[in-house]
Amino acid sequence: MNFSNQFIGKELFPNKTDVNSDNNLSINGFDLTKLAEKYQTPLYVYDEDTIVSTIKDFQNSFKSELETSIISYSTKAFSNPYLLKVLNENDMYIDVVTGGELAIAKFVEFPSSRINFHGNNKSIDELKEALDYGIKHITIDSFNEIQNLKKITEELNVIQDVMIRVSPSVDPKTHLLTTTGILDSKFGFSIETGDAEKAIYELTKIKNLNLVGLHFHLGSPIFEVQPYTEAIEYVYSFASDMKNTYNFQMKKFSPGGGFAIGYTTEKKPLVIREYAKAICDSIKKSAKKYKFPIPIVILEPGRALIGRSGVSIYKIGSIKSIPAVRNYISIDGGMGDNIRHALYGSEYSVFSVSKINSKKKMTKATIAGKFCESGDILAKDVYIPDPEINDLLVLPSSGAYNLAMSSNYNMQVRPAVIIITKGETKIIKRRETYKDLLSTSLL
Ligand SMILES: Cc1ncc(COP(=O)(O)O)c(C=O)c1O
Repeated sequence: MNFSNQFIGKELFPNKTDVNSDNNLSINGFDLTKLAEKYQTPLYVYDEDTIVSTIKDFQNSFKSELETSIISYSTKAFSNPYLLKVLNENDMYIDVVTGGELAIAKFVEFPSSRINFHGNNKSIDELKEALDYGIKHITIDSFNEIQNLKKITEELNVIQDVMIRVSPSVDPKTHLLTTTGILDSKFGFSIETGDAEKAIYELTKIKNLNLVGLHFHLGSPIFEVQPYTEAIEYVYSFASDMKNTYNFQMKKFSPGGGFAIGYTTEKKPLVIREYAKAICDSIKKSAKKYKFPIPIVILEPGRALIGRSGVSIYKIGSIKSIPAVRNYISIDGGMGDNIRHALYGSEYSVFSVSKINSKKKMTKATIAGKFCESGDILAKDVYIPDPEINDLLVLPSSGAYNLAMSSNYNMQVRPAVIIITKGETKIIKRRETYKDLLSTSLL
């Protein structure tokens, strides 16, 4: 019998992904061919056990290094009411970057005391909505936002806790389009140019805004610890100057998110414990050096919290071979539900749902989507066993920034999302219909 529950790349998938006795991939006992038949493709499948175990891994890894750690999921990675419910049940905090993300949190009555509001251009309405909901923090990103918040809090006669996002000019060595903490970035107040100091000075004069700490986010995905430790030391030395000059007390400190996950069998991420140890050791060392008490430390994983818990399943609809050039395998989704390769050149390992243990010849191919763009590619030069029309392909690590950045380009409806929970499957977002496409248009 060909049956084996081991296969190369297993670590990229949700926890209990196996090859079952029919030689099909299964997650937590659910055969992916059966799920595709029941819910149609393209299909996004999440596994709740993996989500919860990743939450626990983050909470335990950081808390065991620093008791004051808080794990705050960055909802931009994938915002969905069911997911927020699971996060809430597991004592998680979250951040939002728009009124829309806040609206989803409000919809599930996510406690306002565990929400932080990020974003480099929050509108006045969004700020008012956040204050109205009693949001815990607002992380200020610009001088205009300071003035807007001053005005709103004075009008409402409330005192709001705020942090500021600083830019520490540290390169996280990831893709330029996902790099955020360098000097040339739209995000945050630069320490290097003096803007961060100016922001702190302005805030000292505003009695309705209570500056409780500093935040930075370097970019994503970061496969090493050194950019974090370098930035922590630099931000602490800045905080120490601000303490001496303006009596700034850093009660809270956030080194952001950016923790990597595996997308291909070649590039392995660190385990969460390794990030936790390096980051917390670095905070303890700097706090001691600059004589600060240990702050509340806020970690903001998006990708690493949810990415590996989700997979996307597609069906092959056409195969085109250009001799001596390339084989194109076209699937029934693409850049509309996963723009990551088109946007950042992100790489994936791609797996055949039913032929993972096939002894047949591997075909080197480029996996193309069905959208009218030559750049609509999901993976370049991957090896697929004996690809045939109607075969199912699965992309692991599809849980973060795929559907979150999805579109209706070409008027393609977005896929359904299901979750495996307590031995059953549940639709958490139904497949869109043509009616949905027309629902916002007027004649
Ligand atoms: C401020 C902030 N925190 C956290 C994150 C989450 O990053 P990741 O999903 O890589 O963990 C982002 C991503 O853009 C961010 O801008």
